[in-house]
Amino acid sequence: MQDFIDLIHRDLLPNLQVESIHPHNPVVVHQLPKQWQLIGTGNYAAVVSHPAYSHRVVKIYAPGRPGLQEEVEVYRRLGQHPAFSEGLYTESEFLILKRLYGITLYDCVHRGIKIPPQVIEDIDQALNYASSVGLYPHDVHGKNLMMSEGRGLVVDVSDFLKQDPCTAWNDLKRAYYALYRPILCRFPFGFPYQLLDLTRFTYRFYRRVWKQAQWQSISIDHKA
Ligand SMILES: Nc1ncnc2c1ncn2[C@@H]1O[C@H](COP(=O)(O)OP(=O)(O)O)[C@@H](O)[C@H]1O
Ligand SMILES: [Mg+2]
Repeated sequence: MQDFIDLIHRDLLPNLQVESIHPHNPVVVHQLPKQWQLIGTGNYAAVVSHPAYSHRVVKIYAPGRPGLQEEVEVYRRLGQHPAFSEGLYTESEFLILKRLYGITLYDCVHRGIKIPPQVIEDIDQALNYASSVGLYPHDVHGKNLMMSEGRGLVVDVSDFLKQDPCTAWNDLKRAYYALYRPILCRFPFGFPYQLLDLTRFTYRFYRRVWKQAQWQSISIDHKA
């Protein structure tokens, strides 16, 4: 492990540039040193790997994006579980995680790769396990979930300490059984990213409007 940490300090950190342009959109990697591979980006961080250490990934938070310490704590509580990665090492701006091999559910829908119900059941069980160790599944959407050999994986747990209710997984599960299974999975060529991002945007908009409406009705009830 020490070799890998040294390589990160020597080769990766001085030559990497990650920027969060908008907190609701994925971070942008402007520069990545030779040999390192970009595995994915989220709204907080970029995830990269090196061929000499291919079973691990480095998750580097963009400057100014919070949450690294919380993610460390989440991995401490999760310990080892087949549906989650593992936190192996941390410093102030990056984490080393066990690499999960698979394809995100978002990419499955984009590429027309069928998602069997087993994947949804695995994720449901994994999230129940997370709740049982004192966590609060949060932000569980298609880019944070993966499929690997027909099994479900949860790739991003960084918000699992946030206690405010999050309906993302229940909404996604409902969409899977009501829309995906009967209709969408029959499209063999998948859907363009633009359409998926429009759906994501519309979903987020309606969820915000719905939350606001709920808050208003609670405060009206309160006043009455
Ligand atoms: N342990 C991992 N193994 C393989 N790929 C990963 C791993 N963690 C993250 N990724 C990839 O990187 C992307 C961004 O990581 P994520 O943890 O979701 O970042 P953020 O917290 O910024 O949303 C994921 O969508 C996934 O494609
Ligand atoms: Mg994410």
